[in-house]
Amino acid sequence: MEMNQPAPPNALDQNRQGLMGKPLDRVDGRLKVTGRAPYAYEVKEGARPAYGWLVEASIAKGRVVAIDSQAAERAPGVILVMTHRNAPKQAPFSLEGEDRFARPRPQLDDATVQYYGEPVAFVVAETLEQARAAARLVRISYAAEKGEYELRPNLSRAEKPKGGEGKEPDSTVGDFAGAFAGAPVRLDATYTTPFHIHAQMEPHASLAWWEGDKVVIHCSSQLLESAQKCVANTLQIPNEKVRIVSRYIGGGFGGKLPIYGDALLAAMASRQLNRPVKTALTRQQMFHITTHRSETVQRVRLGATREGVLTAIGHEAWSHSARFDDFYETAAKQTRSLYAAANRMTQHRVLKLDLPVSDSTRAPGEAVGLLALECAVDELANQLQIDPVELRLRNEPKQDPEKNIPYSTRQLVQCLQEGATRFGWSKRKSQPGQVREGRWLIGMGMCAATRGNLLRPAKCNVKMNGDGTLTAKMSMTDIGTGSYTVFTQVAAEMMGLPPDKVSMQLGDSDFPETAGSGGSFGAASAGSALYDACEKLRTRLAQGAGIDPAQAQFADGKVTGGGKTATLAGLAGASGVEADGEIKPGEMEKKYSQQAYGAHFAEVAVDMESGEIRLRRMLGVFAAGRILNAKTARSQAIGGMIWGIGNALHEEAVLDARHGFFVNHDLAEYHVPAHADIPAIDAYFLPEVDDKTNPLKIKGVGELGISGAGAAVANAVFNATGVRIRDYPLTLDKVLRGFALQNA
Ligand code: MOS
Repeated sequence: MEMNQPAPPNALDQNRQGLMGKPLDRVDGRLKVTGRAPYAYEVKEGARPAYGWLVEASIAKGRVVAIDSQAAERAPGVILVMTHRNAPKQAPFSLEGEDRFARPRPQLDDATVQYYGEPVAFVVAETLEQARAAARLVRISYAAEKGEYELRPNLSRAEKPKGGEGKEPDSTVGDFAGAFAGAPVRLDATYTTPFHIHAQMEPHASLAWWEGDKVVIHCSSQLLESAQKCVANTLQIPNEKVRIVSRYIGGGFGGKLPIYGDALLAAMASRQLNRPVKTALTRQQMFHITTHRSETVQRVRLGATREGVLTAIGHEAWSHSARFDDFYETAAKQTRSLYAAANRMTQHRVLKLDLPVSDSTRAPGEAVGLLALECAVDELANQLQIDPVELRLRNEPKQDPEKNIPYSTRQLVQCLQEGATRFGWSKRKSQPGQVREGRWLIGMGMCAATRGNLLRPAKCNVKMNGDGTLTAKMSMTDIGTGSYTVFTQVAAEMMGLPPDKVSMQLGDSDFPETAGSGGSFGAASAGSALYDACEKLRTRLAQGAGIDPAQAQFADGKVTGGGKTATLAGLAGASGVEADGEIKPGEMEKKYSQQAYGAHFAEVAVDMESGEIRLRRMLGVFAAGRILNAKTARSQAIGGMIWGIGNALHEEAVLDARHGFFVNHDLAEYHVPAHADIPAIDAYFLPEVDDKTNPLKIKGVGELGISGAGAAVANAVFNATGVRIRDYPLTLDKVLRGFALQNA
């Protein structure tokens, strides 16, 4: 089906079995907590593998001029040292093609080094320890060149990125400059956000072997179809000669949208050695070999009347891309639709640098864009002496202010009001620095949340089996989000089966093609293909029972209608009954502006002596269409909020601006929130059903929780202290500098 009309009422609305929204435990939970869910590196299939170890460049720009691999080749257990001198020929890197994750990514293809950590050799040995030891014996000489690594001092040289459908770098409505200049109240503030890394628990790992001329790669990938095409394009073999398997994935966050040298080098070495090859990136290698989020510089200008009506909104965002790449952080994107104002301007500029590749990281765009916009709105509220919740209510648009089309559903106002009530917002003192407990200053802050909603093409196959079970197959992945569980619920609800009769099979590129997990589109896209397949299977089974499909009721493993009843197992018979489903995006995404919404509320305590910030409590209230599973959705929301807290207070990859690498490249020095950082936090979803988005009537939830969250924390710090920090993360040195300025 194509999403050209609103989705009609369907079996999921009826929810006869009560599975829609039910907080079902993860169907793969037991396997995971007992260690029986094999992640890529743990897969034990096929012949005994050889072990690979990547050697990464220790310069950021230049050339390899000599490699002495003799000592490594003679080391115990070593069977191959692959470098650019003996690597197989591959397709060159190219920016062509719509799917950037399907581009060829040749490894060890020449002597040039384009970023720190780029793989320069791959050592394969009988054991992991032998490969690692031998990797240290590879001697590499470089001719280093001076690279450019810094965005902030070079903003004026940043360029307008090339646009694409739905990704125009600039937008204008009305006369921003004139309206801003003439506005009675103005705010002009520049915010900066640092480099972020994804910090998945599971490192990138691959086990590859060849079955004749077909390569099988078990790896940790969010997008199996893209990974398949990337391997095929790089090795110059047909797509169908590549099978990618990712059954269990320990976190993606955007860092597993592309595949990397681990998968490609394992595949190439395996072909050469004619045996399986297994390899994984180390935590330190992940910082440079995989992608990260660019730092950003964002200038926000708001013009308003004294009554707090916005007349001008401007948001300019700068980020970097690797010199050979074309990604940029769309940090001003949400500013095009969040608030009303007659005069508007957004702009993105990108600077090419000799850094590792920056790409999607946990809500690309909104996550850092809202860190700027939602602080600016708070600053304006303070300037106007209007409550920040009220200021947002006064600027609620009637329709999308740049696309001039209606919203599909938009409950931002309800999220703000519900959140304010539940959090006890009325107790907040509007003047900063008013609440003190001993040496702690206490404050509350809030912000709005929004994240674009997407639908991508997907296919699914379902089969009713003679034993009364249903098997569903898709190349969709579960990156820890709960895909296995929510799809089990959808299939069971559609077919009138108990969840334990559904076998959900994901994570294999041999299964029907989906867009995978990314951009919070996974549940909607693959779930809609599953829905469509189940609809067709219902029709087939009803017809088999001589029942008018329009009258058929599916419950308790039976189909009933027109006085007839039949068991699904009986109808399936020995050979089973199958159906294929499909979803394609259509007119609905052009006719309706589609976003999920929310509001974050945070309370912090700030130590007057040390500047230490402690989060005390936090609440997120969200509206994201139908919620498939209350438990997994809440986990997604809370996980996102924790990332947002990290954005506000902790996370920062620190660049060595002389040598172009991240200094704190491990999880001891790159701090993501730990238990001690996170107090009681909660997330609540408003009832919502959106028939414009997809037949499940859901919106993406994965990235909604992070979108904005950190701004609520930053605004709470201001309310506690009167110190406004525009340079994330808000570390105690910056708080102390603020205190010093207050006392100067
Ligand atoms: Mo997401 S950062 O598009 O996996």
